[in-house]
Amino acid sequence: MSKNIVSVIGLGFVGFPTACILADKENYFKVIGIDKNIKKIKKQKINPFLNNSNLFEDKALNKICQRAIKKNKIYFTDDIKNIQKSNVVIVCINFDFKINKFKKLKELKIFFNNLAKFLKKKSMILIETTLPPGTCDKVILPTIKSALKKRKIKITDIYFSYAFERVMPGKFYAKSITENFKCFAGMNKLSGIKCKMFLKKYINHKKYPLFQFNNILDCETAKILENSYRAINIAFIDEWTKFSFDNNVNLNQIIDAIKVRKSHNNIMRPGLGVGGYCLTKDPEFINFSVKKIFKKKSSFPITNSSMKINRNMIFSSLEFIKNKVKSLKNKKILILGAAYKDNVSDTRESPSITLLKELSRNKIKSVLHDPITNTNDNNKYGILNYLPKFEKFDLVLFCVKHDFYNKISLKKFKKKPIYFDLNCVLDKRQINFLLKNNFKIEVLGGK
Ligand SMILES: NC(=O)c1ccc[n+]([C@@H]2O[C@H](COP(=O)([O-])OP(=O)(O)OC[C@H]3O[C@@H](n4cnc5c(N)ncnc54)[C@H](O)[C@@H]3O)[C@@H](O)[C@H]2O)c1
Repeated sequence: MSKNIVSVIGLGFVGFPTACILADKENYFKVIGIDKNIKKIKKQKINPFLNNSNLFEDKALNKICQRAIKKNKIYFTDDIKNIQKSNVVIVCINFDFKINKFKKLKELKIFFNNLAKFLKKKSMILIETTLPPGTCDKVILPTIKSALKKRKIKITDIYFSYAFERVMPGKFYAKSITENFKCFAGMNKLSGIKCKMFLKKYINHKKYPLFQFNNILDCETAKILENSYRAINIAFIDEWTKFSFDNNVNLNQIIDAIKVRKSHNNIMRPGLGVGGYCLTKDPEFINFSVKKIFKKKSSFPITNSSMKINRNMIFSSLEFIKNKVKSLKNKKILILGAAYKDNVSDTRESPSITLLKELSRNKIKSVLHDPITNTNDNNKYGILNYLPKFEKFDLVLFCVKHDFYNKISLKKFKKKPIYFDLNCVLDKRQINFLLKNNFKIEVLGGK
């Protein structure tokens, strides 16, 4: 059987595990891993795996990566020329507007223009990067078409597809790639067929059937809509959270009662805020699409105001704390959890870090703890991996529902800090222990 030579470009949270998973299927694939920051990838990922470190919370993925890297199954490089022999080129580079919308778009055009210089005939580009709807048809495909034309290659001599990623770093990181409902679309019928054949080789499609869209625009839009839906859901509960602490209403209990209805069971809980790379940027993409790609006038007032609410959500928690403590002056605060969500080490756009910065801006002393964040982040934000003694602090804020915090045994001691649960972290047993031992415990949304 002839093997597919697959290049994976962009070896971040999506691309690195994808490259390792494909390399692990050595009967099917030979893998080339390409990243512009290959030195950083070597230092942060490749070398640790060579030295038997386990980088991820997912044990299965650690094993897959160790097999792939120790047995030299991936050729790593920063040179895009290496795609020349590839049958499939997967693109998982990051794309966001943090710097400048037009600069980013220009960079994207340069990237695809360069890629098309080395692409061989009959190969397939598969884009996994989340993009503003319309980017493939209106920006990427015209760029590739004109670069190929210079090589006297027609666009129909290659295959082009889009399949957004739904990966979730954490305990089931690998499975979130191989055992997840994958959506895709091709630029034409043949591209759709090729893409489907490729995805079937590493995705458990019998259990998680592939979903094919009629066109790429619909597929790009699906990703933005699904993330906007979640961001709006989170923003929605924030106004009820404020109502709950202004009026002493037990929102958590109300949500328990609502959640029993199947049609309402994805209502969100009160929390510290929205973090992570995707929910904090993807809903913004639609504004760019309508204005700059489609040049239309549609507006997205609900999405936009939700994004604004989500950006300011930590201030609801701060208000809640201030209501209970009156003044934070001279208080020593311990923030528990630095990652943006439970049981992951990813700190991108983490609300806990925003909270830390806000407290420090107000000259309030606080210490951040997380059991699983990596050395780089620990150094950058001064995160402690060991748990300091709670009695040294005036306020202990539970902010991330890592399993670790549910396993710690809360001890009795004389000097009692005030505990705050800002993200539904503590379970009933822990809350009862604190109450029984006369600790003050305040729960956002009510106990
Ligand atoms: N992280 C997630 O959980 C997740 C989930 C679903 C979708 N996505 C989407 O997948 C895409 C990738 O996300 P990520 O989290 O892996 O990002 P990331 O920042 O972790 O990784 C991107 C990698 O691409 C590399 N890169 C950027 N431009 C490049 C270029 N021109 N040439 C070569 N390499 C380049 C960067 O050096 C980096 O290593 C994004 O569009 C993101 O929105 C991410």
